[in-house]
Amino acid sequence: MNIQDIIYARRSIRQYQDKPVEREKIELLLKAAMAAPTAMNSKPWEFVVVTQVETLDKIRSALMFGKFNAPAAIVVCSNTSLLRRPMASKFWVQDCSAATQNILLSAVGLGLGTVWLGVHPIHVYKKRISEILSLPIYVEPLNVIYIGYPADQKAGRTQYDSSRVHWETFD
Ligand SMILES: Cc1cc2nc3c(=O)[nH]c(=O)nc-3n(C[C@H](O)[C@H](O)[C@H](O)COP(=O)(O)O)c2cc1C
Repeated sequence: MNIQDIIYARRSIRQYQDKPVEREKIELLLKAAMAAPTAMNSKPWEFVVVTQVETLDKIRSALMFGKFNAPAAIVVCSNTSLLRRPMASKFWVQDCSAATQNILLSAVGLGLGTVWLGVHPIHVYKKRISEILSLPIYVEPLNVIYIGYPADQKAGRTQYDSSRVHWETFD
């Protein structure tokens, strides 16, 4: 698949096969994540990989819109103690989102399905996820990415809409 096809093929998968994800594949996803651009190359990211059923069950309970049967999750976080430069510290959401999208796209190439579950900026979700994963106070969760072999087929697509494109100026 070329990159355009991979981008179209990425869809949110909410049903997974009862099959674990190989550690090597998770490591490839993390390598893709850490290839992302970050403001001032600050790389504020931290990634918590979860495969234990008890922890996944707790995450499912914590997130109202995350009750899916994935066998693995990567929780993308920002380590605010690494963000000493005031300008860089403002961009951690974008930095960690770019890393997240790399994981989602890389997963397609590995035959894996994913779904991004929003955590930040919902205070109660951040608190619950931080407690479940014993995150230190200076580590903030952005999202949970569920990962697994898909049990659901979704057609690839763009959502291209020319009316939302403005060439040179808005009008
Ligand atoms: C910031 C963000 C938060 C999201 N949170 C959730 C969520 O909590 N639960 C969920 O099932 N999907 C979540 N999604 C996935 C979106 O629902 C999904 O991307 C959108 O419906 C488009 O579908 P697609 O991913 O198949 O293209 C989230 C996506 C983003 C970018």
